[in-house]
Amino acid sequence: MKFFTELGSLIERRWRECNYSEEAFPRLAEQALQEMPPHKNVDAWDTIRWLLTATDIPQQQDVPGKFGNPPITLYSGPRFHIDIYFWLDGTTSIHQHAFCGAFHVLMGSSIHSHYSFHPQQFLNEHFAVGEMVLEKVELLEQGQTQRISPGKAYIHSLFHLDRPSATICVRTYHTTTESPQYNYLKPYFANDPFYQDVLTTKQLQSVSLLLRMPHPQAVEMLDDLLSRADFQMTFNLLDMAWGHFNHNTLENTFGLATGKEQYQRLFETARRRHGQLVDLIPPVFEEVRRQNNVIHRRGQITSPEHRFFLALLLNVPDRQRMLDMVRQKFPASDPVDTVMEWMEELALTKVWGSSEPNVLGIADCDDDYLFVLRCLLEGKSKAETSQLYATELGEEFTTTLSEKVAELYQSITTSSLFSSLFSQRNALAA
Ligand SMILES: [Fe+2]
Repeated sequence: MKFFTELGSLIERRWRECNYSEEAFPRLAEQALQEMPPHKNVDAWDTIRWLLTATDIPQQQDVPGKFGNPPITLYSGPRFHIDIYFWLDGTTSIHQHAFCGAFHVLMGSSIHSHYSFHPQQFLNEHFAVGEMVLEKVELLEQGQTQRISPGKAYIHSLFHLDRPSATICVRTYHTTTESPQYNYLKPYFANDPFYQDVLTTKQLQSVSLLLRMPHPQAVEMLDDLLSRADFQMTFNLLDMAWGHFNHNTLENTFGLATGKEQYQRLFETARRRHGQLVDLIPPVFEEVRRQNNVIHRRGQITSPEHRFFLALLLNVPDRQRMLDMVRQKFPASDPVDTVMEWMEELALTKVWGSSEPNVLGIADCDDDYLFVLRCLLEGKSKAETSQLYATELGEEFTTTLSEKVAELYQSITTSSLFSSLFSQRNALAA
């Protein structure tokens, strides 16, 4: 496309002037995207129209379409390329890059989260254990541009709010000094998804076969493998077992023991082999479970405001930051009032054919529940919440109600939907 050929030529000329310095590239890419902003020059759909009528296209960097729905290379230079990525659904992938450059929001908007990772132990070059810290969350709107630095200086996730969204990325092919390109699994692991060990890959595929059949000795064979496995393999095996045992009733397939008991047996084998390190695995699975729950519920909601709210629950594990984002998007109202309004609407929204009381799956989302939730959003303690409710209800505030408030406070702060907002996760096991 002519616009991107011109943009690419401009960056190529300027970068050559800087002797193709990797350090200079993010700044040059950002500057060029600001001087020639794609959102003011190109409609995202022009790129699709161009592609559908093309007889000849730049060399494509991601032919299978692993990153984007789809990714299309619009300019392919000798040292960098320019891509467009369409996104149908938001992704919560947290990652760093083995390249550098800049990206630009061409269409839609996103929740952009920046993290830091504090490694405690590199088990090998492809897997590290440490603690992730959310440093900053921002709302990225159409037309905004951000630099991409290589490596751990720029660990981020980009959750696209609109369907579809489109981003333009100006990037080098590879920055060798900053490999590997870790993906991060909240709250503790860094994993290189591009590294493949053929033996472990084939062993994992075989375990999948045993579990899905299900083979009568599947658990024994898996247990035996776990008793000899390295930690990364242990994580992968437990991940597979956890996913399987959560979705299958093992009483029917593996004899009398329940899936939970079978999983616990495997987990204990892993603990005997790797000690306390294994205890970092369940919080990672819990976070996956939490995210899947919110993603599932978000998929059943059509209102943009409600989808925005659930996107925040998914991506912003911090009460104050979540409220800041609501204020930024809807500045005319108090953010707690806005959230409570959404909660009341969602509490009344039922999914057709579902046995759940509402789309959030909250059993008793009554006035008491909403009162406690409001207090939590306002940062009040359990005692303050109880005191406030007593004052509001006067003589109507009974001991039973006091106990209910305490129970609600506890259940909301530990619920899958809200726990990340209100609970303080413990730091890495001592
Ligand atoms: Fe990225």
